[in-house]
Amino acid sequence: MIVAGNWKMFKGPHEARAFAAAVRNLPSRAPGVEVVVCTPAVSITAAVQGLGADSGVRVYGQNVHWELEGAYTGEISAPMLLEAGATGTLVGHSERRQLFGETDETVRLRAESALEQGLRVIACVGETEAEREAGRTEAVLEGQVAVLPRHERLVIAYEPVWAIGTGKTATAETAQEAHAFVKSLHPTAVLYGGSVKPDNAGTLLAQPDVDGALVGGASLEVTSFEAICLAGAQAVAA
Ligand code: PGA
Repeated sequence: MIVAGNWKMFKGPHEARAFAAAVRNLPSRAPGVEVVVCTPAVSITAAVQGLGADSGVRVYGQNVHWELEGAYTGEISAPMLLEAGATGTLVGHSERRQLFGETDETVRLRAESALEQGLRVIACVGETEAEREAGRTEAVLEGQVAVLPRHERLVIAYEPVWAIGTGKTATAETAQEAHAFVKSLHPTAVLYGGSVKPDNAGTLLAQPDVDGALVGGASLEVTSFEAICLAGAQAVAA
């Protein structure tokens, strides 16, 4: 069970350090849950410092370039993430796909490089509302999942785009159905993302093929992030 907070473009180093210090003991209170925070790149080192030596909370980046270095203004490589103290990264988040021209091909390149360099990867997939209404959900997921490498350090996050930041969570049944489909294509852990909150996390995480959560908005406050991690621990224990 993985509960990953995706901070998006929130929390600079100062806030990141304080948040990390506040959740450093969370893993011991949420047995069976791998707790992850995906911070802005400039806040990785501060988060790692705030967590201290033996916290168990993992710090990830939110994106990674496939080259190790070079003339790629604004990009960050896997060795740089590692040097800053991250142990993994997101790739292919729908905001990258929709707003920054990310394609299945660049997601593949990013995932492969990150894995090769020793990072863990959460690769995001998910259909838009128009694609779901047109009955294209499975075809879209198939295309997005097909390019992802099979690797023990890669997990997938199923994030229906219509559920991200909208408060419109997928029902447990819809999530379960999509997760089972994704797993039939690529056998790995599949996290659910899209308006996960403390009050719906328990039901979602209780689904047999929901192996964790990728949490945006509700991961920004210590209390709501903790509540979701504790719901994860309950689902593990059940
Ligand atoms: P949300 O974001 O929880 O705010 O919907 C999820 C995500 O984008 O990863």
